[in-house]
Amino acid sequence: MMTCKSISFLFLIVFVCSSAIDVEGRLYDGQSKGNIKNDGSNADQNNITASSKLNTFIQSASSSGGSSMCDHIRPDELPSECDCREGSERYSLIIECLKPFNSTYFNDTIGMKIDIDPCNKDGSKVSIDVTEKDHNIDYPITGIRAGESKNIPIPGLSMIVPTIGHVGIDAAVLISGNPDQLTLKIGLNACAQLTTHQLCASSIPGISNILPWYVLSGTYSFGDICGSKSKSNNNNDIDAGGSKTNPFKLQAGVVE
Ligand SMILES: *[C@@H]1O[C@H](CO)[C@@H](O)[C@H](O)[C@H]1NC(C)=O
Ligand SMILES: *[C@@H]1O[C@H](CO)[C@@H](O)[C@H](O)[C@H]1NC(C)=O
Ligand SMILES: *[C@@H]1O[C@H](CO)[C@@H](O)[C@H](O)[C@H]1NC(C)=O
Repeated sequence: MMTCKSISFLFLIVFVCSSAIDVEGRLYDGQSKGNIKNDGSNADQNNITASSKLNTFIQSASSSGGSSMCDHIRPDELPSECDCREGSERYSLIIECLKPFNSTYFNDTIGMKIDIDPCNKDGSKVSIDVTEKDHNIDYPITGIRAGESKNIPIPGLSMIVPTIGHVGIDAAVLISGNPDQLTLKIGLNACAQLTTHQLCASSIPGISNILPWYVLSGTYSFGDICGSKSKSNNNNDIDAGGSKTNPFKLQAGVVE
């Protein structure tokens, strides 16, 4: 670990020097662009201060030796109510959202914390924590593995919809694939259990415009990071968590 630390330190020194050069460069170049680039979108980085760059760099350097974990989930595609940051565990990332709903049926603000551990050797793993302040709800859902797909009811959180009755708020989770191609669909949904079937938000007039609400919905690649994490590991270990499951079958499992 000593070597690791000293390597990070070396990186830091190199960065501080290069950022000094960068700042100096700006004095001569009014139109200067951010030289340090950790995602494709350089466009809005041209006004970044040296200190925020330093933070970004330290985060990147300590997580993946160059590119930030959050870049892998295309942070610009997140809902505006959400932010991504590096997790405390190496190669993990945390997305936190505070989503206000302002509908006659559902007038509440829901907090959602999504902890993604794509490189876990037992298969990519997601943990979720759903919170609501007024009713003091804090519901953790831990250790959802690749290969799972479900609407998980949040106890105590529901709304009443005319002609239908109680419609419970769910955490909607789909995780499938392997770190190279990890499909994640994570957010909030609402479903009612009718006598014959489950009826979920997208089919409920008056609710379909607000739910389901997805924080993540797409296929993401963490292969480069997970690979560099465990070169000595057999790749089969990483794949073991359910990559062989048919993703279409899983997809069908999410009732919207
Ligand atoms: C950069 O930030 C300064 C001060 O915050 C602001 O006045 C300026 O308009 C910004 N420039 C760009 C290109 O966003
Ligand atoms: C919430 O909805 C009400 C009624 O539709 C509206 O008057 C109010 O401005 C909305 N508030 C927010 C924060 O959107
Ligand atoms: C939601 O609640 C707030 C405060 O309790 C209220 O001001 C607002 O009008 C409500 N929105 C709707 C759509 O009922």
